Amino acid sequence: MERIQKIISESGYTSRRKAEELIKQGKVYVNGELATLGMKVSYEDDIEVEGVSIQREEKVYYLLNKPEGYICSLKDEKNRPVITELIDEDKRIYPVGRLDYNTTGLIILTNDGELDNILTHPSFHIEKTYIAKLDKKILTDDIYALKKGVVIDNRRCTPTRVKVKSNNKYATVEISIIEGRNHIVKKVFGALGYKVIRLHRSKYGFLVDDIPEGNYRKLTLKEVHKLYAYKVNNK
Ligand code: URA
Repeated sequence: MERIQKIISESGYTSRRKAEELIKQGKVYVNGELATLGMKVSYEDDIEVEGVSIQREEKVYYLLNKPEGYICSLKDEKNRPVITELIDEDKRIYPVGRLDYNTTGLIILTNDGELDNILTHPSFHIEKTYIAKLDKKILTDDIYALKKGVVIDNRRCTPTRVKVKSNNKYATVEISIIEGRNHIVKKVFGALGYKVIRLHRSKYGFLVDDIPEGNYRKLTLKEVHKLYAYKVNNK
């Protein structure tokens, strides 16, 4: 049993201070009865804040800078390492979207299904930035073609930004894409005749890779709210 304001803030709905205000304002119900400040409740209780039902399990949100050699799923039939092994968390968390086995970079892991739906739904426009090392130099014509958009599986993918970082023996290209089709970056370059030999996701919306590869941190409540705001902004 915990104080109600703690349970509400743990759910990620709002801060503890704001939860206290909402309780005082009579906007919180427990099992259909008006809640009082400091009352003890558990996740077994039916808690409603401003008409929204609070999830039983505490929600957790991690930002991982994925290293190479990990699969973005909960289990792998080939017994390869899975990314959830990198995070010290007992709750059943899962990755939001996917990065390939050898792709490095930012990925969110959570047990919040609602946020997962928001971030992976095609109607939510979250820009992701990748740094792709190619197997050769990139031709100027292909840079133009890339900027104009490339047709993949009968649908055009138009990057929001393309920047060639270096173009010596191998090109390194920074590319920002809104959509989330599987292997999209490799397919875009593949369509132009290039192989991606290294791929790193450096940005995910407003989140940047501020942690070393293989490390992770919890998302702040503010960041989680900002991610939820993608839903509002896309309405
Ligand atoms: N595009 C790819 O090709 N691979 C990834 O891992 C992510 C985006």
